Amino acid sequence: MIQLKQVSKSFDEGCTYAVKDLSLRVNTGETLVLLGSSGCGKTTTLKMINRLIEPTEGCIEVGGEDILKQDPVVLRRRIGYVFQGIGLFPHMTVEQNVGLVPQISGEPIEKRNANAHQLLEMVGLHPETFANRFPAELSGGQQQRVGVARALAADPDYLLMDEPFGALDALSRELLQQELLDLKKKLEKTIVFVTHDIFEALLLSDRIAILHQGRLEQVGTKKDILSAPATPFVKDLFSKPARQLADFQEMT
Ligand SMILES: Nc1ncnc2c1ncn2[C@@H]1O[C@H](COP(=O)(O)OP(=O)(O)OP(=O)(O)O)[C@@H](O)[C@H]1O
Ligand SMILES: [Mg+2]
Repeated sequence: MIQLKQVSKSFDEGCTYAVKDLSLRVNTGETLVLLGSSGCGKTTTLKMINRLIEPTEGCIEVGGEDILKQDPVVLRRRIGYVFQGIGLFPHMTVEQNVGLVPQISGEPIEKRNANAHQLLEMVGLHPETFANRFPAELSGGQQQRVGVARALAADPDYLLMDEPFGALDALSRELLQQELLDLKKKLEKTIVFVTHDIFEALLLSDRIAILHQGRLEQVGTKKDILSAPATPFVKDLFSKPARQLADFQEMT
């Protein structure tokens, strides 16, 4: 379980807030989607969960314990992180990228590589073809798969995914979304998934948290949100796709 209690983050000593008074609970085994437009505080929130950014105020617990009381290295081993914009190391092969966290933990190379190959297989990349390639020798979608495999490498209980399919075309995106749904069933991880795409949020979430200008507008299941939007912002956000579709139909 992950719990945020009145968490705020200001990068300019309180003049403005990237995240303000955010209280949120991610239950064990659920996928919570953080949905919101550019700059609303999604990445800042994810980074605070694994201590890449320290909150200005408030408290975060992972597995029932305050993260400030946990060794950051141990904490990050329990939390897989898929970075926005992929973030693979260009001078390392696919195999080395996937085995990075286990390497830091001192796992022997044979075990690391065997595990990396298994994970590559799981995300649909044949290890014989891909293990020894460098990131520049992969397509964008293949790189994103490696990013997912790398986040899973230490078999973490938690997975933080920051717009992992953001750079993909619609078809590849749909394929990876389906694969994530399969992985979710198989692996039973607790996932926080960031996106600005409403359909992706509806497809992948158990619950959705909508952020706007650093504040939580609403959190709930898609049914809760669609049937009873809590604020005018949420109502407008979810009615937009239907309006756009109607506009197109009118044009044709
Ligand atoms: N290191 C930093 N220093 C100063 N301001 C920052 C820093 N990191 C983020 N911000 C600001 O905090 C706000 C939230 O940024 P954040 O990266 O969390 O947004 P986001 O929701 O992930 O956006 P996007 O969808 O574009 O990735 C933005 O206004 C951003 O400019
Ligand atoms: Mg971001």
